[in-house]
This record gives sequence, C-alpha cells and structure tokens, in this order.
Amino acid sequence: MEKPIIVERQGRVVIVRLNRPAARNALNSEIMLALGNELAPLDRDPGVGCFVITGSDKAFAAGADIKEMAEKSFSEMYNDDFFAGWDRFAALRTPKIAAVSGYALGGGCELAMMCDIIFAADTAMFGQPEIKLGVIPGMGGSQRLTRLVGKAKAMDLILTGRMMDATEAERCGLVARIVPAERLMAEAFQAAETIAGYGKAATTAAREAVDRALEVGQREGILFERRLFHALFATADQKEGMAAFVEKRSPNFEGK
Ligand code: CAA
Repeated sequence: MEKPIIVERQGRVVIVRLNRPAARNALNSEIMLALGNELAPLDRDPGVGCFVITGSDKAFAAGADIKEMAEKSFSEMYNDDFFAGWDRFAALRTPKIAAVSGYALGGGCELAMMCDIIFAADTAMFGQPEIKLGVIPGMGGSQRLTRLVGKAKAMDLILTGRMMDATEAERCGLVARIVPAERLMAEAFQAAETIAGYGKAATTAAREAVDRALEVGQREGILFERRLFHALFATADQKEGMAAFVEKRSPNFEGK
C-alpha cells in the first residue's frame, strides 16, 4: 500500500511530501496521523533544523477528505474531536516551510497556514471553499486566515468560496515568495537549509516570538521577545555566533 506521506531527510532538512496525488492529496485521517506520528520524533531531534511540507504539482492538498467525512454524524465528529490531530502538526516547534504548487484548498490552505512560511509556485491557487459543501473551515482557517490577511479578504474568500491565485495571495500577505513552479522545491530547500544552518534554539525562539505577535498585545509581545532574547545568551550558539562575527569567520552552530 502507498504510504500517506513520504518523509525524506537531507542533512538537517526534512522534506515531507503528501502522497495521495490521485485524490489531489485530500487530507484523510491516515495523513493526519502519519504527520503527527512521524514528525514528532524528528521535531525533537536537535539534528533537524527545518521541515519542508509539499504536495504534488497539481495539488498541495485539495482539503479534508470529503468522502471520509460525508456520512458522519454530529456526535461522531464531536466525540472524536475530528481534526484535533492537526493541532499536533501545528504545534511542531521546528520551523516549517509549506511549498505550495497547484491547489491549496480548505484543509490544504489551512495546513499551509500552520507552517511558518509559505512559498507558492506561480501555479498555486488558495481558497476556503467549505461553504460550497454546507460547512465552514474546520482546521483553523477562519482564525488563521483572518489574522494573516485581515477581515476583508478572509470574509471574501470564506463566504464566496472563490479561489485566489499566487499573485493575490502574495499581495495580501499569505505567501512569502512566488517562484516559478519548476524552481519551487529548489528555492524552498535552499531557504530551509539556511534556516537549519542557524542555532535551533534561536530559530525556535524566533518563530515563537513572531507567532506571539498574532496572539497578544504589543506590550506583552515585546516582553515575551525580550525574555527569549535574554534567554538565548544561555546558549553556546549565541557565544559562537557573536565570536565568529568578531573573529571575521563563519559560525559553526551546534544547536547547544
Ligand atoms: N476530498 C476527497 N476527494 C477529493 C478531494 C477532497 N477534498 N478533492 C479532490 N478529490 C478527489 C476527487 O473526488 C477525484 O476522485 P475520483 O478520481 O475518485 O473521482 C480526484 O480527487 C481528482 O479530483 P478532480 O477530478 O475533481 O480533479 P480536478 O483537477 O478536476 O479538480 C479540485 C481539482 C479543484 C481541487 C477539485 O477536486 C475540488 O474542488 N476538490 C474539492 C475542494 C474542496 O472542496 N475542499 C474543501 C474540503 S472540506 C475541508 O477542507 C474542511 C476543512 O476545513 C478542513
């Protein structure tokens, strides 16, 4: 049987490919469980410095698996806390880049938004079309999309169910970079290698600090940042990074 995800380690970078191309990478429970189970130990591994999550050329992911959900009752959804497993993915502490080619719809768009950075191929299409199915986003879309792009665009996308292309997604702040489709993985990998080459405590703290800006007021956020900044002076990587600058050489971060 095909594996739901393909996980490949290249040095300090882990590439995770969603592997249901025939179903446009529809996100079923198998994919959700595999991501949670397989990435958790890698997340804790100090030798892993960045994840790259990707799909196929045609689809990053076309949303939650509609065929799996269609016949479920309210009590099945509620009692199983359906989708709660995705919180495990969102909670991974290692930086993660979503490399999106083709459709990122519904849960696919929500999965990309659980990542720290989204790189979009020029073929990428984003949307939250759940309204067309008689539901609303259920993997965090109404919350993350609104924080990332603001109420106007979030309401437009969620209420009409329309798709937006990579240019619009970059313009509204959802996407960090647009790259030609054939360069997507090379660019994402290069950025991931750069991130993974830094001290892991610093990259983890950096993403926690940025995320905090979406959660709390500015005063609290700055205090949180300051405490993390101070704490990084307890790491060997801070000593190494600053010594290397003073000595005019490249730093060698060891994740300590
Ligand atoms: N769930 C289950 N199966 C899906 C799927 C999904 N989300 N998206 C696509 N597939 C399946 C299709 O049923 C089809 O299967 P068969 O070959 O067995 O018929 C196969 O993938 C290929 O799909 P298409 O023939 O439709 O491919 P296309 O290239 O013409 O169109 C598409 C691609 C525009 C993405 C279209 O498939 C589509 O609109 N998919 C549904 C998108 C959607 O509504 N997503 C939201 C899901 S709900 C959700 O995500 C809730 C949440 O908040 C988490």
